[in-house]
Amino acid sequence: MSDRYLNFTNTKFGLKLTSMLGLPQPYQLRRRDSDIPLNEQNVAIGSVDYRNNAFKELEAALNTLGLSSLEYPSINKGVENTGDKAVYHALVFDARALQRPIDSIQLYDYFNKNIRLLQNCGRIILLGRTPEHCESRDQRVAQTGLQGFIRSLAKECRKGTTAQLIYDNNGKAARLQSTLRFLLSGDSAYVSGQMIWLQSKDSTIGSINWELPLRDQKVLVTGASQGIGLAIAELITKLGGDLYCLDIPQNQKALESTAMRLGGEAIALDVSSDHAPETLLEIGGKIDGWDVLIHNAGITRDKTIAKMSEKDWIQVVDVNLAAQQRINDCLLEQNGFSKGARIVCVSSISGIAGNRGQTNYAYSKAAVIGMVEAYSQTLDKKGMTINAVAPGFIETAMTGAIPLTVREAGRRLNSLSQGGQPRDVAEVIAWLAHPASFAVNGNIIRVCGQSLLGA
Ligand code: NAI
Repeated sequence: MSDRYLNFTNTKFGLKLTSMLGLPQPYQLRRRDSDIPLNEQNVAIGSVDYRNNAFKELEAALNTLGLSSLEYPSINKGVENTGDKAVYHALVFDARALQRPIDSIQLYDYFNKNIRLLQNCGRIILLGRTPEHCESRDQRVAQTGLQGFIRSLAKECRKGTTAQLIYDNNGKAARLQSTLRFLLSGDSAYVSGQMIWLQSKDSTIGSINWELPLRDQKVLVTGASQGIGLAIAELITKLGGDLYCLDIPQNQKALESTAMRLGGEAIALDVSSDHAPETLLEIGGKIDGWDVLIHNAGITRDKTIAKMSEKDWIQVVDVNLAAQQRINDCLLEQNGFSKGARIVCVSSISGIAGNRGQTNYAYSKAAVIGMVEAYSQTLDKKGMTINAVAPGFIETAMTGAIPLTVREAGRRLNSLSQGGQPRDVAEVIAWLAHPASFAVNGNIIRVCGQSLLGA
């Protein structure tokens, strides 16, 4: 679905008119296909403490990305003197050594001096220490404050710039690499104001093929014949994964044509059927277990609670939640996953903010978040991860059918003033499914351009 207003505001006349009228000015985001490669990016790095080991590991992680340059503006006075010319693609600030709230002045100093030097579609990455693992009360208070800071900074950003906070204690370079790579690239274009918790213990991973990270990985995508699921399936193939597309038997034709076009296998199966877990266990058994399982299939049956039928409640909760749980449990109990497998679930902003007429849907999507939280520790022990994405307003056939005024409100009520594309959701899922994302566990990542709903 094309966004004509976005196209208009990106013309000279449109920009002038919307400025005069004080209207939102969505900026054309830089995604994978129009991305500035990492080896052409200048990244500015700063820290509360330049000597501690965690910071050295962060430098090492950034250095492995092959950036054009890594600069130190707050200690290199020459670089500061750029006459406000936008010279950086990203600002990365390490606040993990922040001990007391009063020292947060260092945050102010760094961003006050450097934020104007960030180019359009820039990236801001802040690192903090997980509050629950802080050594003192003062430190915990100081580190919790980072959440308010980054959310506000993300709201101040203009022209496609995004800002996120990574909470990490361990600090090893290998833990950070896939996340830094994702956040610095156009793959994270529609993600802003998010907290990313690197919670799992370290894992030994072999050498990573960064171009085709999913090569030889057996990836199952449910609801893959249209919408977001189709975008996920396309990206999985692009990243080298062995694709298994699943959809309901009624969609068999579309499913088979998708599978054929992408060189994957088609599985016509209703995830909520009694035999679904055993069927997927059996198929997984023939390929040495699933490496990645993406629970994307979902349905809506919208009605206010007073008018909703019992059937609509049961069906939505069964497809969106219970089926996922039954499949996960069966595969977990009977070794249906490979070592270090990844599970990614699709929740929704509706599950976070609630939505009129969607009590059943919002219940199921909020419960998916609960499921991720409840399973993450068990999976950590097995060297696996489970995470969820919560899409906001995504330009699909479903949102295209919403009446124009409501659709316009949905599109603009976020910090990027535009709807996301199905591929934006797919990119986040691909990062969570990445073999190097072993530390990203138990996260709920909103793909909503920092929607005001549920913020
Ligand atoms: P869609 O309706 O276009 O696609 C869903 C796919 O799942 C369809 O191919 C459908 O046949 C399949 N499916 C439904 N029930 C199934 C079952 N029992 N077994 C197997 N396959 C089944 O939906 P869309 O928009 O692509 O959404 C995908 C996911 O993203 C859903 O979980 C949805 O709740 C979620 N989501 C979508 C948002 C949006 O703006 N489109 C916003 C937030 C979340």
